[in-house]
Amino acid sequence: MIVLAVPSAFAAGDPEAGAQINAQCQGCHGIIDFKAAYPKVYSVPKIGGQNYDYIVLALKAYRDGDRTNETMHAIASSLSDQDIDDLAAYYSPTD
Ligand code: HEC
Repeated sequence: MIVLAVPSAFAAGDPEAGAQINAQCQGCHGIIDFKAAYPKVYSVPKIGGQNYDYIVLALKAYRDGDRTNETMHAIASSLSDQDIDDLAAYYSPTD
């Protein structure tokens, strides 16, 4: 049993852990301008500032195949529920 001490605004996610995982996301979801630069510049949806629950639902939908996008399915498949909560905590607004 792991007891997590987290701010009440975040049900289960740890934004600092999310920041670590985000290393694999920022190449596409660049925090500053939200565009991927490789292999060409193309728009990737903005996720910084998205609602916590929205990010959790979107990632689980990609992982479980309810939302189809090959790229995000491949990425979400490697994420645990805790990883997803951490990422949501990292991306969602803090207030
Ligand atoms: C190779 C590029 C790439 C990487 C790496 C990547 N994404 Fe994505 N992501 C995309 C694209 C493209 C979409 C839009 C897919 C679609 O149309 O459904 C997307 C969609 C999303 C969405 C849904 C956004 C919305 O507005 O509905 C979320 C949430 C998301 N990504 C989170 C992440 C997280 C968290 C990571 C790292 C663990 C990550 N992505 C890594 C390319 C990427």
